Amino acid sequence: MQMRLPYSVPLFDLPMYSVSKLTDYSAALAAAAEECIRACEAEARSVSDETELKLFRDRWLGRKSGILTQINELWLKDAPKDAKREVGIRVNELKARIQKLVEGTRAGGTDGRATTVAGVDITLPGIRRSIGAEHPVLKTMNEIVSVFQKLGYSVAKGPVVETDYYNFEALNFPPNHPARDTQDTLFIAGQAAKPPRERLLLRTHTSPVQIRTMEKMRPPIRIVIPGQVHRNDPPDASHSPMFHQVEGLAVDTDITFSDLKGTLDHAMKALFGSSVKTHFRPSFFPFTEPSAEMFVSCFICGGSGKRGAEPCRPCKQTGWIEILGCGMVDPNVFDFVKDNGYDPRRVSGFAFGMGADRIALLKYGVDDIQLFFQGDVRFLQQFA
Ligand code: PHE
Repeated sequence: MQMRLPYSVPLFDLPMYSVSKLTDYSAALAAAAEECIRACEAEARSVSDETELKLFRDRWLGRKSGILTQINELWLKDAPKDAKREVGIRVNELKARIQKLVEGTRAGGTDGRATTVAGVDITLPGIRRSIGAEHPVLKTMNEIVSVFQKLGYSVAKGPVVETDYYNFEALNFPPNHPARDTQDTLFIAGQAAKPPRERLLLRTHTSPVQIRTMEKMRPPIRIVIPGQVHRNDPPDASHSPMFHQVEGLAVDTDITFSDLKGTLDHAMKALFGSSVKTHFRPSFFPFTEPSAEMFVSCFICGGSGKRGAEPCRPCKQTGWIEILGCGMVDPNVFDFVKDNGYDPRRVSGFAFGMGADRIALLKYGVDDIQLFFQGDVRFLQQFA
């Protein structure tokens, strides 16, 4: 025998609708409202006689425990204060549609099957579906990548879980370099049995992809490498244990530091506006020699260090913002890939790496990096 719901709907055709609690008050609400309407329409179609019609009406419109009353309790009353207005509008829209639907439903014919056509008013506003948008960090990375693509660079990628060899050894980090310490690096557990260079870790920068690419492609090469990296930093407004970098590498015969400067100066103007200036200060990285940190003139205060009478915070009143690390590829690095055409006596190159999250913070005037990774729709919606 077939089991039946109160009004002649085979149980296996139509699961009984019940009002669920919301997980958030925008996307989840829109989806839940849509689901509710579909359920009501389906039930309306299955109403076959007057008894069922009465049951159907009570179930949806009943004052004490009807579905609309439950929606009021579960969606509207529980909504956080700042979402109440928006939720109120949505719930009222939904109630109006359900009411029309239920009141427009007539009992079906004598054959006991659904012949009812629910009264759907097609002039009622539809349900707004929020469409997705690019995350501000990805958007920034894509912009950086496209600046270099226009210069003829191609995109290379590599694994986030990396070996000690690619992350450190082949990049000329000496065995006891502090970056290899657990202070900065997140190591994968249970690797002690492996030879040191094969031990796995979360890459601390995108630079290992320099080596991986040079192993595969002979010179000349020009590549940009966007990707996720990890460092053992406690989260705060400017640090996150997971963040993003965009790396670059150009290798050819006769590449000089002037090429590095010209390329990066162009890229910064393309990213931050043609009036920004660039400025290089000596620095150190094991895999570049010489190395530099590049600064751009502060595009918030125009380089003056002041915003009106106030000190400019993003550049700490210096007029300059540190954007990236760079340098000429160290010959020792080429030695690791010399069998693939990278003879340090014949080729030279430059490399650079920048933090995409930090650039996104500056570009959009966001003051806490954590906001990028909490997945709060109210924050992310502002970039749509
Ligand atoms: N990998 C360096 C970092 O993460 C940045 C860098 C890349 C420096 C390429 C020089 C050349 O800090």
